[in-house]
Amino acid sequence: MQNILDKIGEIAEKEKIKVYLVGGPVRDFIMKNEIKDIDICVEGNGISFAKILKKYFNCGLKTYSEFNTATLFLAHFSIDIATSRKETYPYPTSLPVVENGDIFTDLARRDFTINSIALSLDKKRGFIDPFSGRDDIKKGLVRVLHKKSFIDDPTRIFRAIRFKQRFDFRLEKETKKLLKQSIRIINKLSPERIRTEIMLLLKEQKKEEIFSQLYKLGVLDIIKLKPPQPGVSTSLFALIDPDKMPDFLTKSERQIAQGILKISLKEDLLKKAEKPSQIYQILFGIPEESLVFRMNQKPVIKGKIKEFLNVYNKVKLEITGRDLEKLGIKKGPIYKELLTKTLLAKLDGKIKGKQVHLVEEEINFVKTLLIHFFLDIR
Ligand code: CTP
Repeated sequence: MQNILDKIGEIAEKEKIKVYLVGGPVRDFIMKNEIKDIDICVEGNGISFAKILKKYFNCGLKTYSEFNTATLFLAHFSIDIATSRKETYPYPTSLPVVENGDIFTDLARRDFTINSIALSLDKKRGFIDPFSGRDDIKKGLVRVLHKKSFIDDPTRIFRAIRFKQRFDFRLEKETKKLLKQSIRIINKLSPERIRTEIMLLLKEQKKEEIFSQLYKLGVLDIIKLKPPQPGVSTSLFALIDPDKMPDFLTKSERQIAQGILKISLKEDLLKKAEKPSQIYQILFGIPEESLVFRMNQKPVIKGKIKEFLNVYNKVKLEITGRDLEKLGIKKGPIYKELLTKTLLAKLDGKIKGKQVHLVEEEINFVKTLLIHFFLDIR
């Protein structure tokens, strides 16, 4: 990576363009943490510079002309290239209005001092650190650049806690006060933006601690999540209370959460169920993800869910409605009843026989069912 940064610096000097490493990678470089991706800021035109680099590295390039940014895709990592800019927020939580600016205005639009340091990539390799971010890294402090930071962009509330826990830092006193005062504004964020932050939090190593802290601050309540439970590994579904589904869930996540609730409600029944047909009837129709989630959470019902997924749910009938038609049965809801009853009998081993005879055996079973129906009706 060092070589690549040297090369970028060299090319920039040749082209007489000022280029800086900015944000997360500078912070991680100072902290001697692993650097995952490179963020570059160009004073001038980021996209033109990205095109020059693409030629040199012979790599993939994607440009975003509306933001004046680009991404280069190298073998093991990517390089994000932005044009230095100034941002203003016309109203709280709005997306910012962007104008061209120099590296100082670009640093001034950022979230925390630890993320507002630039490293020039020319031969001098100097830090540009107008907010004393390096001091805060030394002191272990997450500090906003100005009073309105959380109001401009409440996603920074999630980010503050994320960085605090990731690096084992503290919130600087005034920052903590401002954060607490801004919590209600999270309500104004779109579900998509909340979703993005939650997904980032879930990737963190200390996610339990992060969610516990967000709970204590009242943030989880606002976005309708419950606190992580001790001893239960934290995934999105462990934080969902199906009685008040968060707005940021997708349709299938909602269904999975409802499935998990269904299993919980039927847990006692499931514990008592012995016959395969009983287990099948309790669990049929519940999304597989809900079953797997609950299985990992509740070892007592694990065996039964496993049997259902691996065996019972794969059992199929040889016969279909067509066979019932051939028997001369009049079409109607009785078809479903006959087929279901036959399947349940098959699950319990009541329909046996070699594969070649199974159709016959199942038809015979339907016939006995019909006799019972007939007797019942009379
Ligand atoms: N940034 C910001 N406000 C935000 C999001 C991002 O000011 N709401 C700035 C920060 O300077 C940040 C940079 O944009 O360092 C890049 O954002 P991102 O990639 O999200 O953050 P990283 O600091 O790289 O964090 P991570 O290590 O989690 O990738």
